[in-house]
Amino acid sequence: MKRINVITIDGPSASGKGALARGIADSFGFNLLDSGVLYRLFAFLYELSFTSDEIANQIKKHVEFIKSEDKLSIRYKKNDITTELRSEILAKLASEHSSKKEVRNALYDIQRNFYNGEGLVADGRDMGTVVFRDAKLKIFLTASSEERAKRRFLELQNRGQEVNMPALIADIEKRDLNDSSRELSPLLPAEDAHIIDSSEMSLEEVFSFTENLIKKEFI
Ligand code: DC
Repeated sequence: MKRINVITIDGPSASGKGALARGIADSFGFNLLDSGVLYRLFAFLYELSFTSDEIANQIKKHVEFIKSEDKLSIRYKKNDITTELRSEILAKLASEHSSKKEVRNALYDIQRNFYNGEGLVADGRDMGTVVFRDAKLKIFLTASSEERAKRRFLELQNRGQEVNMPALIADIEKRDLNDSSRELSPLLPAEDAHIIDSSEMSLEEVFSFTENLIKKEFI
């Protein structure tokens, strides 16, 4: 199989894949696809009463992805909707929609079109198993549910959102179960993925481990 210049980073929610993907994109000058944002956008637009077919067009026509140093901002019709998209309510709705075939199909081409021949880092659940099966480097980043809940707690607190730790652990475990037990594109490591358990690793350690893999594959 011809391998394309893509690094896929899959894993459960709050495993740190978003931060790792942004760091790698910045440091190697790669483009970035946060596929979870597309599922969140789907849920957001569905709540505005658009149908699955209309949603793909709305995303293509009216959504902008703006990558700055350590952050990805999303605009819909010029309004910044990043905070809303990152809320736990939309995460839950996105996870529910993501088990439907028409939703995954509606987003497939949009995801694939993020690859323009130049380097791309794609993060999600099925980047290495479905969308970019032909990627040169595949990472599966995971951590215990308690550790992930702790990280999400701090992230939401920093954003000034109210959080309740037991509810957060329950939500994360429910979402893991939804994401890994669904029939279509379940959350699973690709056969050729490097599995990293970051429960006892700092982001810097995960980053430098990944950096070494990239240097071997791409440079
Ligand atoms: O990565 P995230 O938390 O932003 O993703 C939100 C939901 O979207 C996640 O619970 C499942 C779904 N998702 C998916 O099914 N496939 C992807 N490639 C990315 C996200």
